[in-house]
Amino acid sequence: MAPATESHPTDDPSFGLAVDRYDLIQQQLIPGYGSLARLAVALLAASPLASEQGADVLVAGCGTGAELQEAVAQRPDWHLSAIDPSAAMLAEARSRLAGAAAIDWRQTTVEHLTEDPACQGRFAGALSVLVLQSLADDGSKLAFLTGLARSLRPGGQLVLVDLMSTSLPSLEGQLAAAWVGFQRASGLQVPAEQLAPLTQGLHPVGMARLTSLVNAAGFSDPARIFQALAFEGFLLQKPS
Ligand SMILES: C[S@@+](CC[C@H](N)C(=O)[O-])C[C@H]1O[C@@H](n2cnc3c(N)ncnc32)[C@H](O)[C@@H]1O
Repeated sequence: MAPATESHPTDDPSFGLAVDRYDLIQQQLIPGYGSLARLAVALLAASPLASEQGADVLVAGCGTGAELQEAVAQRPDWHLSAIDPSAAMLAEARSRLAGAAAIDWRQTTVEHLTEDPACQGRFAGALSVLVLQSLADDGSKLAFLTGLARSLRPGGQLVLVDLMSTSLPSLEGQLAAAWVGFQRASGLQVPAEQLAPLTQGLHPVGMARLTSLVNAAGFSDPARIFQALAFEGFLLQKPS
């Protein structure tokens, strides 16, 4: 595998501006954020391969460690690999998980990790929460999803949570206004320079495009398992 301290050109130091307040901001910004990691881990833990004792599980884009904390709590037997290209995010996750479990930490992207033959076909399951949305649909989304499919054993599942384009154009204005109302009611008060890395430059796609991308990457059709406004969660399977 690649060295754990590998630096990466896609590391974005600007994301570090929000790291200390990241969780609070996400809770105020994203409906259901407090349950996302718990639900994602519970779903994967019930999957055919990741339900096995001591399963290898990849947390792709671990951020400050929300999915890792849930994984350690729900499945202390899992062998976790946690990756993120952001040094600031990885450092925060490492400090929160210090001493909690033996986690294989790597500062890298999914795309780079899975260039390593040792990481191909290795994982029983993977979690990708709020990561794909930040990648442009210029080949970057496909490369990320292809890496995830490559990392899994045949029959392995991916829980994918992401911001989506609405499939209900007639409700687009109402849904956008509701999201602003949710943020206001949640007390979101964040300086523009801290909010920008979390809200700008996102690249949501619709259901048809997501289906085409995941199929091209080597997954079966996405099964939607939850939705809160435009944030949707899917279960994907690499065919056996
Ligand atoms: C919005 S955060 C989500 C973090 C965490 N999953 C959560 O739900 O709180 C997105 C994370 O994905 C990471 N990321 C971006 N591109 C990535 C890639 N190609 N591979 C792995 N992680 C990536 C970013 O550095 C960032 O920490």
